[in-house]
Amino acid sequence: MTDTGSVPKSNPSVLEIWGRSSLKGHVTISGAKNSALAIMAGALLCPDDCRLRNVPSLVDIGRMGQVLAAVGVKLERQGNILDINARHLNQSKAPYEIVNQLRASFFVIGSLLARLGAAQVPLPGGCAIGARPVDLHVRGLQALGAEVQIEHGMVHAYVRGNGRRLKGAKIYLDYPSVGATETLMMAATLAEGETILENAAQEPEVVDLANFCNAMGAKIRGAGTNTIIISGVPSLHSVDYSIIPDRIETGTFLVAGAITHSELTLSPVVPDHITAAIAKLQDIGMRVIQEAPDCLRIIPTGIIRATDIETLPYPGFPTDMQAPFMALLTLSDGDSVITETVFENRLGHVPELNRMGADIRIKGNNAIVRGVPLLSGAPVVATDLRASAALILAALAADGKTTIQGLHHLDRGYEKLEAKLQKLGARLQRVSDHSPIKAPSVTQSPVNS
Ligand code: UD1
Repeated sequence: MTDTGSVPKSNPSVLEIWGRSSLKGHVTISGAKNSALAIMAGALLCPDDCRLRNVPSLVDIGRMGQVLAAVGVKLERQGNILDINARHLNQSKAPYEIVNQLRASFFVIGSLLARLGAAQVPLPGGCAIGARPVDLHVRGLQALGAEVQIEHGMVHAYVRGNGRRLKGAKIYLDYPSVGATETLMMAATLAEGETILENAAQEPEVVDLANFCNAMGAKIRGAGTNTIIISGVPSLHSVDYSIIPDRIETGTFLVAGAITHSELTLSPVVPDHITAAIAKLQDIGMRVIQEAPDCLRIIPTGIIRATDIETLPYPGFPTDMQAPFMALLTLSDGDSVITETVFENRLGHVPELNRMGADIRIKGNNAIVRGVPLLSGAPVVATDLRASAALILAALAADGKTTIQGLHHLDRGYEKLEAKLQKLGARLQRVSDHSPIKAPSVTQSPVNS
């Protein structure tokens, strides 16, 4: 049976959170969603069994599984182990209904093209956090010898001649896009000759994908730096691979400790993957200690100092941590400026945090956060995945009850978040939504990070 994770059609429930409880204990961090998504796309490169471990159970993972199943791949899931076999990959066309709901599923274009010499993948479209074009993916595939036409919202890519094999090339990315780096790395893995990706993304998820491909026999060097060199190989072999821990979930729980003034331990983590977030936490007064190579402890000191944050490609401060940190800085002792440089429309949580008593003004891509002594619970709406985390964090610290709508965003990307928080002593429950307030239209866009 194909079971890659449930994909609920709609989610009419809301999350009720009673704030101001202090938390205590240990958090087990799940596998990285964004690694797992890219690696699932990478599994298409291999005609043999791929066993993935530490795959989080999330709606997004279920959707990626549906895309893979639609192109002829067999998937079997047991707990956090996902077995993928793409021996009978026979379809080069990814279904619009799913790619439309999950931007990361566009990334299969690289591996489909590499395996089959053809790929037809719908344009993923924009989403709540920005326009998010795929021009860098397309230009890179063209550089590798693909002919690409975009018609009626569909990207048609073909390789003619040369046994339908892509050809290595030197590619400079105008921007270190995570998705474009991953797409092109996958495409180049089975290409003839050497590919050099310059100004490549350096995110840990890119490195995880490269390690996964190398474990299948690919020859990729330099992942984690801005120059990745891929020497094409004719085919790949079976693999058993474990996904890295989720650095954004790690950062979110560190902020949970900070905002509730609670001491928490977290493992397994890779502290080096969240250096920028740890540095900011230390900057504003928290103690973050590495207890073991894969374990962090956050010890609040009673202080939350204001600070400025600018989101940047890795190793800069991650855009996916911007919303959670904004929630934290609403309670700081001064003024902070948060500048979002990666996505053009990623401040949807600001009006919602303001409904909870925060004092935040938006000027262009800057949010000016004036710290307040206390937030107060209110009905709010999550506008995207990381916004949902920010509202939960704010609610944990707020006075009274907060009711959060738009949980379909949360379910896309945080595995068992409520259960994990309850285990730490948070008071929250998911209940059916009887509220007349409806989510703003921006929340209807299901595609985002
Ligand atoms: C990935 C992550 C997401 C994270 C983001 C940035 C996944 C599934 N998602 O998204 O959680 O927030 O990295 O760290 O891994 N861009 C272009 N042209 C392109 C591609 C991107 O202009 O062809 C722009 C985007 O619109 C955006 C910026 O580049 O403004 C960064 O996007 P990118 O790094 O590609 O993010 P994703 O891979 O979509």
